[in-house]
Amino acid sequence: MKRIKELLQTEERDIEIELKGWIRTKRDSKDLIFLEINDGSTLKGLQIILDKKLISEEIQHDLGTGASVSVSGILVDSPAKGQSVELQGKSLILLGNAPAMDYPLQKKKHSFEFLREIAHLRPRTNTFGALARVRNALSFAIHQFFQQRGFLYIHTPIITGSDAEGAGQMFQVTTLDINAPARDSNGKVNYNEDFFGKKAHLTVSGQLQAENYACALGNVYTFGPTFRAENSKTTRHLAEFWMVEPEMAFCDLDGDQDMADDFINYLLNYILKHCPEDLEFFNQWILKGTMENLQSVAETPFERISYTQAMKALEKAPFDFQFKPHWGCDLQTEHERYLTEQWIKGPVIVSDYPREIKAFYMKQNEDGKTVRAMDVLVPRLGEIIGGSQREEDLDKLKLRMNQMDLDTQEYNWYLDLRRYGTVPHAGFGLGFERLIQYVTGLQNIRDVIPFPRAVGTIKF
Ligand code: 4AD
Ligand code: MG
Repeated sequence: MKRIKELLQTEERDIEIELKGWIRTKRDSKDLIFLEINDGSTLKGLQIILDKKLISEEIQHDLGTGASVSVSGILVDSPAKGQSVELQGKSLILLGNAPAMDYPLQKKKHSFEFLREIAHLRPRTNTFGALARVRNALSFAIHQFFQQRGFLYIHTPIITGSDAEGAGQMFQVTTLDINAPARDSNGKVNYNEDFFGKKAHLTVSGQLQAENYACALGNVYTFGPTFRAENSKTTRHLAEFWMVEPEMAFCDLDGDQDMADDFINYLLNYILKHCPEDLEFFNQWILKGTMENLQSVAETPFERISYTQAMKALEKAPFDFQFKPHWGCDLQTEHERYLTEQWIKGPVIVSDYPREIKAFYMKQNEDGKTVRAMDVLVPRLGEIIGGSQREEDLDKLKLRMNQMDLDTQEYNWYLDLRRYGTVPHAGFGLGFERLIQYVTGLQNIRDVIPFPRAVGTIKF
């Protein structure tokens, strides 16, 4: 069985073909039926022409949008505009009908809100088919980028006993009976009785474990699901998302920024080369100009500025922000958008953020105020990458953890990297769904992952 993607590219004609897929549209003339079939291999469908005499009236009636069919016929040049080939059907088997009365995907434009309610059927639309192919291609490109550079793919754990970001936005994992948990003599929940013998959570990042492997093997990366119980109903946050985290030994913040820049450029070039049709679709229907924009970004190195420079630019902005920026505050989305969309007019890497708004593990600068952090910001979305050089000095790291009320005993295994053969090292995390939003122009992060999990949303 050949797939439509192949058939649209082949030079062969008058060959016998068997095709299986789903009907997108059906048209009738007096003697003929025209079906457009999509099989998911590509955006375009293939037109099938069938003589009505070949098919019983009952089956003809069932050949509507959404029905699945198997067709045999001859591949011929198409006289119709906009398609190279079509199939002259010789026989058709109806595999499954989709009664028009209740099949939710009719041939009209559906809203994204509606499609989210039927996320189990939305992959049958052009948008979600294209999206699945783009996600697939970029996942492969991520592995290819790191593999070509000798990075090892490390499987970091999903269930964890420590909070990597120290931000306390974790989902708890337990087998205790939540209505009657085991309690100690003080009446507190007794986690000794829980599955792992201590409190456990879903991971917010694979970084700490990736650091362990980088500090033995050199360059590593992890690419897996990540969980955050952030109670934010934004178009950029999911409770379950995928993150790519490279970690590099003998690397400082400059090297980290170089790697992030190369990485994004590589991914953009890859997707432009491998999914041009799908990107053209997004360019036409979702966000005009995306393709041109990706092309220009893919060729240019990112601008780099410090947080302090960014703050100065924000303070001079010709209008008031909702949240007034001041040195020491975290960059809000409106700030990030101003910097990328109006000031730099493109992606930018912002580095050396105030220590107080960043995680405990970041390397401290000499100034005693900032850390060796960097975020990659892009127009429309703001942050897509967050990274840093890590503090490799045991005493400085312990001091910082104490200041932040973190239990150093719990992180002993992490501190051992600084006790034995410590080396400068750095890494970053790319939010995979934010990358997909950037590439496709889709506005809502719930529309770039097959089955979104967010506050109040866990259907399917
Ligand atoms: O900036 P973050 O929190 O960095 C880390 O987790 C580091 N441990 C990474 C590292 O250095 N290895 O998250 C990294 C990226 C963000 O820039 C963003 O793109 C994405 O992860 N992200 C989210 N994406 C979707 N939904 C959420 N709730 C996200 N939170 C972060
Ligand atoms: Mg961040």
